[in-house]
Formats: sequence, C-alpha cells, structure tokens
Amino acid sequence: MTSTTSIHETVREHYAERIKSSASCCGPSDCCSTESKLYPVELLATLPTDVSSTSYGCGDPITLAALQPGETVLDLGSGAGLDCLLAAQKVGPEGRVIGVDMTPEMIERAQANAKRVNASNVEFRQGYLEDLPVESGTVNVIISNCVINLSPDKVKVFKEAFRVLAPGGKLAVSDIVTDGPLPEPVRQSLSAWAGCVAGAVNAKEYITMMEEVGFTNISVNPVFFDKETVDAALAEMALDVNQYPREEVYKAVYSAKITAYKPM
Ligand SMILES: C[S@@+](CC[C@H](N)C(=O)[O-])C[C@H]1O[C@@H](n2cnc3c(N)ncnc32)[C@H](O)[C@@H]1O
Repeated sequence: MTSTTSIHETVREHYAERIKSSASCCGPSDCCSTESKLYPVELLATLPTDVSSTSYGCGDPITLAALQPGETVLDLGSGAGLDCLLAAQKVGPEGRVIGVDMTPEMIERAQANAKRVNASNVEFRQGYLEDLPVESGTVNVIISNCVINLSPDKVKVFKEAFRVLAPGGKLAVSDIVTDGPLPEPVRQSLSAWAGCVAGAVNAKEYITMMEEVGFTNISVNPVFFDKETVDAALAEMALDVNQYPREEVYKAVYSAKITAYKPM
C-alpha cells in the first residue's frame, strides 16, 4: 500500500519537474497544445500566451463556476495560476482569489504570473488540499482543475472544501474519474498516479464521498477523451502496455465537470 507521503512526494516532484521544464499536461488531457479546446478562445485571449498556455488541467472550471463580481474564490491545486488569474478577472476588484498548491515551484510561477498581469486580487498559499491554509466559512466558490484525483485522501479534501465554504457556497471542479475498473498495473503505478489516472476513483464513489461530508445537489457530467489523447498520456507514464489491453483504460478514464453545494 502506497503511503500518503510517498504519493505527495511523487506528485510534487512530478509537477516541480513539469513547471521547471515548462512542459504541460496532466494525464489524459490535451492541455499542451490545444488549450482552446478546454477554454473558450476569448477567455484565454485575456492573458499573455505564455501564461494562458501553461495549463495542466483537464477542463474549464471557470465557465463551469459562473463566477460573479465580488465573490471569494479558492482554487485547489492552483498550479501556475491560470484558473486563478481568469477567476480574478471575473470577480473583479471587489472579489478575491486564493490559490493553494503544495509545490513551491508552482507557487513561485503563479506569483510571478500574477505580478506580470498586475492581478492584485489574487494570492497563492503553499499547502495541502487535505489541510487547507484557509479560514472556515470564508469562500463562496471552490474551483479546481485536474487535482482532486491526485490526492491520496479524497475524503479529507472534500471535508476541508466543505469546511472553508460559506453556507450556500459552490464547488465547481474539472477532474478525472472512472467508470469501471482500471487494470491493476495502471492502478499500482505511481507514475500513472502523478499523471492523473491511477488515483482517479469511480464517479459513484466520488459522489458518495461528497455526500458523506455534506454536499448537496451534486452533478457529474462526463467529457470523454479521444483515443490519441489517452494513448499519448499513457506513453508518457512509461507503462508496460503489454500487461493489459489499453482499451480498458480508454473505456475507464474520463474528465468530468462536477458541481456541488454546501447547504445554507
Ligand atoms: C495537474 S496539476 C493542475 C494544476 C492547475 N490546476 C492547472 O489546471 O494547470 C496538479 C497540481 O496540483 C498540485 N497538487 C496535487 N496534489 C496536491 C495536494 N494534495 N495538495 C496540494 N496541491 C496538490 C500539484 O502540485 C500541481 O500543481
């Protein structure tokens, strides 16, 4: 059984390396060269290209969240800050955005990006999703992009998300979930965990975890990946493809748009 610490370490090293080499991509997302597939082109056009292209996500939580001026937003696993900077524009000067990430290299890049675009309503805090450095009941909307699947303790993440949300607050995340079992060699691979595949859980389990901590009105809508995208992601994870039929992975893993609410 892989420990929480070793998963955190593997994931942190993976993303530190990614940002240092400025290579994008989280598992089966096509975020590298086709960000405009994830986000509306006009949304990305509001930021310099090198900022908008540094994405490790698997969806568009900004459009999903329908942010309003004045809201306080928390981004779980903010990476290089793309979603925080887009959120900052939506909530305006009366609102604020907090990005939390455990990888110091990501925090540094996100802070530099915020400075570069003069985003004064955004701050980045180093910390764990499982122990958020955020005060209880202070957040209107939680966003996240391809991160919760990476956590070794998703129940803790949902408990923490529920704690920091204000009553009536919304969770709007893009994440990887599964439908059906993953092949064991994939499930056991730390590299596949860091690539947002091995840590992904069944959508039903994901919903149950959210319900158990108190979230209501939960909805999970799938966005399926094409075969080439999943192929490229698996190749990057250096998995031995002779050990299992790849089709099992194509079938099982998908990106989802997930929303849920903390009751009033
Ligand atoms: C796939 S990247 C996504 C980054 C960003 N959301 C984006 O869309 O570009 C995952 C990020 O989550 C962070 N992360 C993963 N697990 C975490 C945890 N348990 N606590 C805090 N940060 C975590 C990693 O450091 C990394 O920056």
